[in-house]
Amino acid sequence: MAIKLGILGSGSGSNMQAILDAIEATQLDAEIVLVLSDNPDAYILERARKANIPAEVIDCHGFRTKFPEKAQLHIAQQLKEAGAELICLAGFMRLIKQPLLDTFPDRVLNIHPSLLPAFPGLRAWEQAVNAGVSEAGCTVHFVDAGMDTGPIIAQAKVPVRPEDTAETLHARIQKEEHQLYPDAINKIVATYETTSSQE
Ligand code: GRF
Repeated sequence: MAIKLGILGSGSGSNMQAILDAIEATQLDAEIVLVLSDNPDAYILERARKANIPAEVIDCHGFRTKFPEKAQLHIAQQLKEAGAELICLAGFMRLIKQPLLDTFPDRVLNIHPSLLPAFPGLRAWEQAVNAGVSEAGCTVHFVDAGMDTGPIIAQAKVPVRPEDTAETLHARIQKEEHQLYPDAINKIVATYETTSSQE
C-alpha cells in the first residue's frame, strides 16, 4: 500500500517535485497527501496545487523564524487528519520540536545539502566552498529536536571543483538530492514493511 506523505517546505520545492516525479514514474510507492509551507509565496505551494495536492500555509503567528508550539500542534493535527504516515521536510526553514515529533515518532525526515555531520545549518554548500573541502554532498536523516542532528539514512557525495562558486556547487548537490530523497524514502518504507510482516 502506498505510504502517505506530508511535505513541509519553505521555498522552491524542487525536492517535493522529485518525490512526485518518482511516484509518477512508479519508482516510489507513495502518495503526497498534504503540502504545508510557512511562506505564503513559496513556489512549493504552487507546484503542489498544479499537481492537485492539498497545499496550505502554516500560520506562524507573526514569528519570523520561530515555529511556535501552537502552530506545530495545529499542523500535527492537519497532517494526521490528512492521513500522513511519514513527514518529509524539503527545504523547511524552521526548527521542528516536540509537538510535531511526538505526533510522528521516528517518522520525520529531512534532506540537508551537506555530508552531515559536516556543515549543519544554513547555506551548507557555501560553508563547504569556504572551507575548501574537496568533497560535498547531501544527507537524508531522521529529524530530532536538534539542528540537522538526527540519525543518518542515506548520503550522496559530489566533488567540489576548484572553479566552483557556492551556486554551482549547490546546483550539483541539488541534482543528487533529487535522486537521494525518493531513494531514502523507499529505503525507510521497506523497513516498515519488513517490521509489519514480522508482526
Ligand atoms: C535543498 O538544498 C535542501 O537540501 C535544503 O533546502 C533546499 C530546498 O530546496 N534543506 P527545494 O525547495 O527542495 O528546491
